[in-house]
Amino acid sequence: MARSPLLNVMTQTAMKAGRSLTRDFGEVQNLQVSMKGPADFVSNADRKAEEIVFQELSRVRPDWGFLMEERGAIEGKDSQHRWIVDPLDGTTNFLHGIPMFAVSIALERDGEIVAGVVFNPASDELYSAEKGGGAFLNDRRIRVAARQKLPEALIGAGAPFLGKGDHARFLYEMRHMMAETAGIRRMGAASLDLAYVAAGRFDGFWERGLSPWDVAAGAILIREAGGFVTGIDGAKFDHVSGEVACGNEYMHKALIAQLKIADTAYSARIPKPAPTDAA
Ligand code: IPD
Ligand code: CA
Ligand code: CA
Repeated sequence: MARSPLLNVMTQTAMKAGRSLTRDFGEVQNLQVSMKGPADFVSNADRKAEEIVFQELSRVRPDWGFLMEERGAIEGKDSQHRWIVDPLDGTTNFLHGIPMFAVSIALERDGEIVAGVVFNPASDELYSAEKGGGAFLNDRRIRVAARQKLPEALIGAGAPFLGKGDHARFLYEMRHMMAETAGIRRMGAASLDLAYVAAGRFDGFWERGLSPWDVAAGAILIREAGGFVTGIDGAKFDHVSGEVACGNEYMHKALIAQLKIADTAYSARIPKPAPTDAA
């Protein structure tokens, strides 16, 4: 497979950052049993990976800006282009020695995502896509799954956690989706969840409360693999909105319809404010 110069740069960068994460991941596995635990070590691994991505991409495209999880937004002289980067997606997995984490790099041009790579160094799986060029897992072209029946579907989801998200709403959605599908998975790295939809491993995926760097690269992988990506209400996808629902044409529609039923039930159980005297 011949990659464009742009995808080459993104791929080489993700792989270099991935090699650094792999080295640190070995150490994290040893630290599981120490009293101190690996938390500080992991923050350092995260920052090191981000530094590698920043240095590499700045070297080849000195004028382009960045939106990075750790450093935040960095304006470039060229206001058209911006890299959106999560140097370590799946931090909690990494911290616990679970080999399900990734480096995620997307390129935004005039506000639109035009290329993305997601690299899981632990499985040596590199997902890449560029607008109009299709999606790939390493050198193999990938497509979303063809399944059309929700009862046969394996659906990925992102669960809120301590201090984050609407837990009650998620439980409604989960309870509903469990009853309608062949299974739900919570893998813990949103960029890889989306890559799994692109590769036809998951039939669909939904999550709320995400950040642009979690979804920017994954969304273009799905589109280029023939899938559909929107907000959870079916509105046009926007990588800054924080929510995503995706799948093939059928699964995407079915997922949105089912989540709507669950969300309607959830909203209905919230007591309406009592009418005031003035009303
Ligand atoms: C997290 C992962 C996780 C998702 C969280 C994200 P991080 O990213 O993608 O799957 O559920 O909302 O914050 O913190 O590991 O980079
Ligand atoms: Ca992330
Ligand atoms: Ca991260």
